[in-house]
Amino acid sequence: MDTPALAQGIPLIPLEALAPDSARGLEVRLGDEVLPLILVRHRQGVSAFRNRCPHAGTPLDWMPDAFFNLEGTHLQCATHAALFDPVDGACVAGPCAGEALETFPVEIDEEGMVRLMVSR
Ligand code: FES
Repeated sequence: MDTPALAQGIPLIPLEALAPDSARGLEVRLGDEVLPLILVRHRQGVSAFRNRCPHAGTPLDWMPDAFFNLEGTHLQCATHAALFDPVDGACVAGPCAGEALETFPVEIDEEGMVRLMVSR
């Protein structure tokens, strides 16, 4: 029996297209919604977050794909400079400290494609 397409997730980009310790902004259509995603490659793998700061709801990037702080240690909100853990999205400093980015499950398949593990 074939595996249902929904169980395979939504292909995003090849892992090799995302440099280590970098992030990329993507838009993914989920039904009627266009989900703005931040895809982050870090030492523990890949994480995906909604590109929406829990403080005031603005996107984190100040220009396309500019998500990391200057030190390259955290994702940084362009609006009020909150800092987020690139692995779990926890806000570790700034006006939303203690909150977190909304996370989405991702997996890397056997062909190296990063897949968003949600149904459309
Ligand atoms: S909107 Fe992100 S810190 Fe204020």
